[in-house]
Amino acid sequence: MNFLRDIQSLQKKKPGPTDDEECPVCDGYGYIITETTVKICDCLKQRQQERRLRNACIPLRYKNKTLDSFKADIDTRRLAVRQVRRFLQEFDQSNECPGLFLYGAPGTGKTHLSIGVLKELIQKGQSGLFYNMVTLVDDLRKQSSGSLAQDEEERLARLNQADVLVLDDLGAGRLTDFVQERIYAVIDQRYSQNRCLVVTSNLGLRKLEEQVTYPVLSRVRGMCFTVHTGDLDYRNPDLTPLPRKGDSSNP
Ligand SMILES: Nc1ncnc2c1ncn2[C@@H]1O[C@H](COP(=O)(O)OP(=O)(O)O)[C@@H](O)[C@H]1O
Ligand SMILES: [Mg+2]
Ligand SMILES: [Zn+2]
Repeated sequence: MNFLRDIQSLQKKKPGPTDDEECPVCDGYGYIITETTVKICDCLKQRQQERRLRNACIPLRYKNKTLDSFKADIDTRRLAVRQVRRFLQEFDQSNECPGLFLYGAPGTGKTHLSIGVLKELIQKGQSGLFYNMVTLVDDLRKQSSGSLAQDEEERLARLNQADVLVLDDLGAGRLTDFVQERIYAVIDQRYSQNRCLVVTSNLGLRKLEEQVTYPVLSRVRGMCFTVHTGDLDYRNPDLTPLPRKGDSSNP
């Protein structure tokens, strides 16, 4: 009898809340059910958020970047990060301006800020996807020639489904008519469905229009808050880029 009692008391001991053990709150069900309510358990919320982060395809270099790690040490950066935070505070899918357009010279933190925004929105329960323009153009070309790998296929399929789409370096690369049409379709879908779009670019407006066509630029500008990230390269504060025709500081 004593032996039986020992086994029973051992079975009652709950495992500690480590990654591969069952959650002690919900016994691994993910839901806490009482007589009158069903509540989603924190462990399930956590797992869902981790899955959304994995699916967002954040590039390795930017995995640890957040809005908090963006240094606001000079006026342009202070203003940029303040405007980005205001955008997040006011973010509402039902309003008509569910987007953010970050423009500025290379190295001014556009990609960093876009990832910061993406992570904050994922934390609020949105699904998201990061796409660099050059990768997108590549994927679209491969898709049309039938040579897309499975993970690329899955990423492309999420392009129109993600609640939040970050399109990094809009207008970069050589854009054929086919690619321009596909980019138009992506942007127009975001625009007409009032879905969140975060765009970055280091091109001035004229050059951007040349690259992506006026209808795309008009939609991007129409649905986005515009934030200027400045001209000072964070990576190389001692370098001043030569003015180039068509860059963001020389539109
Ligand atoms: N204000 C900042 N605070 C901290 N890190 C920054 C800041 N601005 C840029 N960086 C870092 O410098 C590098 C270049 O920034 P990035 O976002 O890639 O610039 P851009 O996209 O404008 O070319 C990244 O590693 C980024 O995390
Ligand atoms: Mg960038
Ligand atoms: Zn749980």
